[in-house]
Amino acid sequence: VRLEELIDRAALAEMLDTAAELFVVPLRVLGSDGDLIAKSGQEPSLYGYLDSFPAVRAALNDVVARLRSVDLGAGEVACKCITGAAYHALELRYDDRAIGRMVVGPFARPEWSELAAELYELEPSIRPEMAQRLLLEMPRATPEHVGRVARYLARSLDLILFSGHKALLTGNMHLAAMRDNYRELQEKNARLQQAFDRLKELDRLKSNFLATVSHELRTPLTSIIGYSEMLSEGIAGELTQEQGEFVQTIRNKGEQLLDLIKGLLDLSKLESGTMSLRKADLSAGLVIEDVAQTLAPAAKKKAINLVVRTEPGLPGIWADRERMRQVLLNLTENAIKFTPSGGTVTLSAGLTSLEAPAADDTTGLVLMVTKRTAVKLRVADTGIGIPEDERERVFDAFYQVDGSSTREQGGTGLGLSIVRRLVDAHDGTIQIEDNVPNGTVFVVTIPCRRASMV
Ligand SMILES: Nc1ncnc2c1ncn2[C@@H]1O[C@H](COP(=O)(O)OP(=O)(O)OP(=O)(O)O)[C@@H](O)[C@H]1O
Ligand SMILES: [Mg+2]
Repeated sequence: VRLEELIDRAALAEMLDTAAELFVVPLRVLGSDGDLIAKSGQEPSLYGYLDSFPAVRAALNDVVARLRSVDLGAGEVACKCITGAAYHALELRYDDRAIGRMVVGPFARPEWSELAAELYELEPSIRPEMAQRLLLEMPRATPEHVGRVARYLARSLDLILFSGHKALLTGNMHLAAMRDNYRELQEKNARLQQAFDRLKELDRLKSNFLATVSHELRTPLTSIIGYSEMLSEGIAGELTQEQGEFVQTIRNKGEQLLDLIKGLLDLSKLESGTMSLRKADLSAGLVIEDVAQTLAPAAKKKAINLVVRTEPGLPGIWADRERMRQVLLNLTENAIKFTPSGGTVTLSAGLTSLEAPAADDTTGLVLMVTKRTAVKLRVADTGIGIPEDERERVFDAFYQVDGSSTREQGGTGLGLSIVRRLVDAHDGTIQIEDNVPNGTVFVVTIPCRRASMV
C-alpha cells in the first residue's frame, strides 16, 4: 500500500493546516519515496527572504533533500538547518511497514537568537537587521514539544489510514468482482452471437432448400394435374364411372399438393425478402367484396352467414392487390373453417392510424414517430376461438392449435405464417382479438400511401 492511495491529498493538507495553526509549527507529509504529499500553508517569512538568494536556496534545498532521505533509525530524528533552526522527522508506519514520513519544522528553539555565522559567509549580502527581525517571527517551540506534536499527529494519521485502507480494500474487492462479472458477460455474449450467426445461416439454408425443392416439385406436379385433367375429359378414351372417380381424386389431391408447394414457395420468398410486391393505391373495400364473393359458396355449404361491412369513403391502402387478396382469403377461409354451422363471419374495413417511425435515412436515427393514416381490415368469426397463449404461435409455419392426427379440419398450418409475412411486407400489423361472446377477430392494419401522412 502507498500512502497516496490510502488518503485523499486535499483532506490531508486540510488536516495539516489545522494542526499547524494549533501547534504553530510548519508540517509536511512525504511518501515512501520522499515525494511531498501534503504540507501546511505558510512557510516562515525568514525562509521566504533567504530563498531569494540563490546560494542560500541551494543550501536550503540540500537540507530538504537530507530530510527526505535521512535514516530515521529508531523512528524519529531531530535535524539541524543551516540557519540554526531545527526540524523533526518521524517515520509513518502502517501494517508494520514504513509508508512515509512526517517533517515538523523549521522551528526555533526558545534559546535561539542569532542566525548561524556560516550563513553570512555563504551570502554576504544578507541584511543582518532584516534577517534578525524575521528570526523573531519564527515559530518557537522546544524539541520535546515538537516531538509530542509529531507523535500525536502520526497517531491520528494512523487512524485515518486504517479506515482509508478498509475502504480501499472494499473498493478493490468490488472492482475485482465487477471485472469478473463483466468478463463472464462478455464471454456469454460472444457465445450467444456465435449461436445466433449459426442459426441465421441455418435459416438461410433452410429457405434456399425450401425454394429449390418446391420449385422442382411444381413442374412434374403440373404435368400430373394436366394429364389427369385430360383423362377425366375423355381425351384418351371414355372412362368408366369408377375410373372417372379415381382420376378426379388424383386431380384433387394434386391440386392440394400444388397449393401447398405454392405456399412453401411464397414463404421462402418472403423469408429471403425476394418476393416482389406491386404496390398501388388499392381500395380495401373492393378486395373484401372480391374475397366474400369467392368464398360465398364455401360459406353457404357450411350454412355460415358471411357479412361484409365497410365504412364509406375510405382512403386507398398502399398494397399489392393479389397479395392483399391472399391475406384476406386465408383469414376468411380460416374463419369459415373454424366456425360451426349457423355461425357468422364478418368482414369489415374502417379508418385508423399506424405509428410509423420517420427515420433519417442518412444516420438510421429515428427522429420522431409520426402517425400514418391506415385502414383496419377485420375478419371476425363466431367459431371455436384461439386461446390467449396460442395467439403468438399460430403464426409459426406448420403450427396448428389442434396438432393431433385426429384433427377435424384439414390444412397444413402455413396460411397464417404467410399472412403475417405478407402483412409485414406491407409495413402493416396483424393482431388476434376475442370476439364477444365467442370466436376470433383477426385485425390487419395496412397503411395508406406516405403522401397522406397526417
Ligand atoms: N379463425 C380461427 N379460429 C380458430 N382457430 C384458428 C383460426 N384461424 C387460425 N386458427 C388456428 O391457427 C392454426 C394455424 O392457422 P393456419 O391458417 O396457419 O393453418 P391452417 O388453416 O391449419 O392450414 P392452412 O392455412 O395451411 O391450410 C389453425 O390450425 C388453427 O388452429
Ligand atoms: Mg389456414
